[in-house]
Amino acid sequence: MIHDNGSSNRSGNRSFEDVLRARMSRRNVLARGAALSATGFLAALAGNKLFTQEATAATAQAAGDAVEGTGTAIARQGGSLINFSFVRAADGAGATPSISSDYQYEVLIPWGTPIQPGGPAYNGEPNRRPTAAQQAQQVGIGHDGMWFFPIGEGNDHGMLAINHEFGDNTHILGKEAPESLEDVRLSQHAHGASVVEIRKVNGRWQNVSSSNARRIHVNTPVTFSGPAANSRLLRTAAGNAPLGTVNNCANGKTPWGTYLTCEENFNGYFGATGAWTPTEAQARYGFSAGGAGYNWHVFDPRFDLSNPRYANEENRFGWVVEIDPMNASQTPVKRTALGRVKHENAEVVVGQGGRAVVYMGDDERFDYIYKFVSDSNWRSMIARGISPLDQGKLYVAKFNDDGTGNWIELTINNPALRAKFADQAEVLTYTRLAADAVGATPMDRPEWISAGPNGDVYATLTNNTRRTEATPPNPQAPNPFGHIIKWRDSNNHVGTTFTWDIFVLATDTHSTEKSAFGSPDGLWADPDGRLFIQTDGDQPEVNGVKLNDQMLVADPGSGEIRRIFSGVTACEVTGITVTPDRRTMFVNLQHPGDGDPALTNFPAPQGSGRIPRDATIVITRKNGGIIGS
Ligand code: FEO
Ligand code: CA
Ligand code: CA
Repeated sequence: MIHDNGSSNRSGNRSFEDVLRARMSRRNVLARGAALSATGFLAALAGNKLFTQEATAATAQAAGDAVEGTGTAIARQGGSLINFSFVRAADGAGATPSISSDYQYEVLIPWGTPIQPGGPAYNGEPNRRPTAAQQAQQVGIGHDGMWFFPIGEGNDHGMLAINHEFGDNTHILGKEAPESLEDVRLSQHAHGASVVEIRKVNGRWQNVSSSNARRIHVNTPVTFSGPAANSRLLRTAAGNAPLGTVNNCANGKTPWGTYLTCEENFNGYFGATGAWTPTEAQARYGFSAGGAGYNWHVFDPRFDLSNPRYANEENRFGWVVEIDPMNASQTPVKRTALGRVKHENAEVVVGQGGRAVVYMGDDERFDYIYKFVSDSNWRSMIARGISPLDQGKLYVAKFNDDGTGNWIELTINNPALRAKFADQAEVLTYTRLAADAVGATPMDRPEWISAGPNGDVYATLTNNTRRTEATPPNPQAPNPFGHIIKWRDSNNHVGTTFTWDIFVLATDTHSTEKSAFGSPDGLWADPDGRLFIQTDGDQPEVNGVKLNDQMLVADPGSGEIRRIFSGVTACEVTGITVTPDRRTMFVNLQHPGDGDPALTNFPAPQGSGRIPRDATIVITRKNGGIIGS
């Protein structure tokens, strides 16, 4: 999401910045001892080889030598996985997308596409916006995380589950504030998620009629599961049944074939029409009388924090929601065992003993990284009729100065939590407060997390404009460009300790045209180990060109980063999924031109006057190769 979030963490827990500074200072001593150049030192800090071992002079020197000429901060270790022509800076700032000359793209399911072909359509004409009822039958706005679920062999046919994170009122309604409940419903129906059936027909991907396609939005029935499901904290005096999902940012995919959609900045949709004083928990989650300006609360009492009949409604948002993409009659399930935060994505891996492990970031400045581990083997749990996402342990990360870390369990059995919370349901509903109480490490806006094939787990820390002190590897204060960290857990993802290191500092890529980027957000490690990096926010200026948001591919082994795709003016590039053969990739362009037709008319022809629409981009390699190669 484009919003540069504030900070609500007043816990006083030691920030990641402090830990990083201490760790890098220690390394600085080691590096000086090895008489490394400044370039070599930067490479050494970020070097792959340094990740699980101490910075010996030999490995640091090797990393420093290898990185010469690449201008990137990843240590070179072998042959490259990436062999495409990068998008030049001069092509990275336009009103239409640019892609590597070795690749091509087409546009799929922009905002307003009928879920079922033949249904009501919206094409971006400024004076023909959809009604609320029509929007409920159309692909929403704010395309973000998504996943492709193959049908059959699946390389040309499948279900695409896709999030609709947000669209501001000006983009959706054509005005700054709703003037009626109908306006609010139109906005609400543009949010949520879509499940569409897509197929390659005559060489072109399109959505096709489907018994499994559906829209899930802010007024769709949902249900709760897990330890907090029956909590008083999720009930209202009005007795209204749980409805909807909102600000669906990034995603996950389970080993059992379901889709996870993650609720991020849900607080912004609530406001107060009357007198209201935030509770400690409401303040910690960033609720305010005005919200983020959506003004739903003016016409829909469910979102009015000052209406006592709907007290606790706000606790029904901030969860990870499970959707079956192959069953349109399934009720989406909010999995409370995974905690309630501003969820970015939910990276699911199978760990030791077949346990389902879910890594999750809470995207706000100075918030935390979490991990959930199911109680036992996911297959055996499902065979017993138990969701692996309902029974397990939730942990929060603590990063230590020496490159180690600890996963601290958020359990009511911890005396620090028992003193503050009544039961596990309360711990889970107010996860941020629980994490504050156990000494978790505040991070620089955790966005996506992705696990690589060798067990390394990567997380984007998109930026932190409140960084107050420069450190040797990141000499800008404040630091608007962010970085990527990585760690490796003990005991194949299920242990309670880990080792960590910096993967790349975005500022270290700025001197090289092919690799310059900032504000890393979307992230995917492919089965070969390539790391796809998508951006949302401030990008560097290269050769006099201020870059648009973009997608790059990193090869952790060879040390290269190359730009493969560049978005349009004032957009975000986010969401990433592929067909089983990895010859087709889907990514999203979110809020092109921030909705302003004066900046871009994408995906309509430039100059058409159409309102720009969020859309999915289908990427293929011209020679039919694996995407990223
Ligand atoms: Fe929805 Fe943190 O990006
Ligand atoms: Ca994001
Ligand atoms: Ca972001």
